[in-house]
Amino acid sequence: MSSRSGRRSRLLDWIDARFPLSKLWNEHAAKYYAPKNFNFWYYFGSLALLVLFIQIVTGIWLAMYYKPDAGQAFASIEYIMRDVEWGWLIRYMHSTGASAFFIVIYLHMFRALLYGSYKRPRELLWLIGMTLYFLLMAEAFFGYLLPWGQMSYWGAKVITSLFGAIPVIGEDIALWIRGDYEVSDATLNRFYAFHVIAVPLVLIGMVVAHLLALHEVGSNNPDGVEIKYRKDSKGMPLDGIPFHPYYTVKDLVGIVVFLILFALVVFFIPEMGGWFLEHNNFEPANPIVTPEHIAPLWYLTPFYSILRAIPDKLLGVLAMTLAMLALFLIPWLDKSPVRSIRYRGPLYKTALALFTISFIGLGYLGTQNPTGLYTLLARIFSALYFLFFLLMPFYTKWDKSKPVPERLS
Ligand code: HEM
Repeated sequence: MSSRSGRRSRLLDWIDARFPLSKLWNEHAAKYYAPKNFNFWYYFGSLALLVLFIQIVTGIWLAMYYKPDAGQAFASIEYIMRDVEWGWLIRYMHSTGASAFFIVIYLHMFRALLYGSYKRPRELLWLIGMTLYFLLMAEAFFGYLLPWGQMSYWGAKVITSLFGAIPVIGEDIALWIRGDYEVSDATLNRFYAFHVIAVPLVLIGMVVAHLLALHEVGSNNPDGVEIKYRKDSKGMPLDGIPFHPYYTVKDLVGIVVFLILFALVVFFIPEMGGWFLEHNNFEPANPIVTPEHIAPLWYLTPFYSILRAIPDKLLGVLAMTLAMLALFLIPWLDKSPVRSIRYRGPLYKTALALFTISFIGLGYLGTQNPTGLYTLLARIFSALYFLFFLLMPFYTKWDKSKPVPERLS
C-alpha cells in the first residue's frame, strides 16, 4: 500500500468511526444492486438531480444581484444581463434550467407509466415523486414573477385570481396569497421568499425521501420483474449489478450528452423562440396595459388548457385541480397483473398513447389563443385526459397481458 493510500484509508477509518460514510456509500452505491437492463429511460432520474444542482447554484448567484423590489426587479435583471460579469450566462442557465427540469421530469414520469414503476411496492415512491412535481410547478410559478415583466405580472394575476373562484372564502384566500388587493411589491417579496428558500428546502428534503424510498424497495426495470427474489449463493440478486461503477458510468454518459444539448440552448437559442423565455416578458410589468395573450410557460399549459376548456370559472378551476390530483391515484387505479408495457395488451397501449397525445395537445393549445377549433380540440383532449384515469380500473383489468418471464429478458 502506498503511503498516500495508507493515509487515505486511515482518514476514512477515522471518519467511519464517527460518521457512517462508507456505510452510506456502500448502501446507496457500491453495494446497491440495480437491475442489469436499465435503458434510455433510466437516465432521467440522475439528470433531474443534475438540473436541481444547476438551478440551486445559478439561483444562489442570481440572488446576489437580483433586487426583490417592484421598483427595481426588472432593472436588476437587465443589470445582470448587461453589466454583471458572466451574469448573462448564469441567468440563461437558470431560465433554460427551468424548462430542462420539466423536460427531464416529464420523461422521468413517462418512464414510470411505461414500466408500471408506481405499482406495489413503489406506491409511496410515486406519491413522493408527485409531491416533487407539485413543488416544481410551484417553484416555477413563484420564480416567474421575479423578473417583473409583463408576463410575470399578468401570469401571477391570472393564477392568483383563480383562487377567487372558490365560493365564500375565495377572495380572502386570493388576498392572503397576494398580500395585497393587486399583485404588488408585497406579492413579489413573498414569492421571492418562497422561491429562494421555502420551496427549495422542501424540494431537497423530498428528493432525499424519494431516493430513500427507492433504495428501500429497489429499482423497477423495463421488464417490470422483481430482481430481489432470485439471488446467488452470496445473497446478491442474480439479475442485479452494483450501482457503482456500472450505473455511475452509464449516468455519466447521459450527463455529458445532456450538458452538450443544454449548452447549445444556453449559448445559441436561450429564448427558444419564446418557449423558454416569453417575448412579452422583456417589457416591464405594467398594471394598466393587459397583454393581448396571457399564457404560462409550456410546462404548465396542459393544465391551463383544461382550465380554459370549461366556460365556468369555478368548474374550470375544479377540473384543473382534479386533473393534477388524478395523477396521484394511478397506483390504485391500475389493476393490471403486470407492470411493464412489454407484457401489457393493446388496451393499455392505446390508452397510454391517447393520454400522451392529449397531454401534449393540451400543452400546445394552452399556449395559443382559445378560438373556435382550438377550444373544441381542448375539450376533446380534456375528455380523453380524464377518461384515461376514469376508465383505468376497467381497461387494465380487461386487457390481455402476456406471460412475464421469471428473469430479466
Ligand atoms: C426533483 C425531482 C426528481 C428527482 C431529482 C428524482 C430522482 C430520481 C432518481 C435519481 C431515481 C433513480 C434513477 C431512475 O430511476 O431514473 C428516481 C426513480 C423514480 N422516480 Fe424520481 N425524481 C424526481 C421526480 C419524480 C417524479 C415527479 C415522479 C413521478 C411522479 C418520480 C417517480 C419515480 C419513480 C416511480 C422511480 C422509480 C422508477 C423505477 O425504478 O423504474 N420521480 N427518481
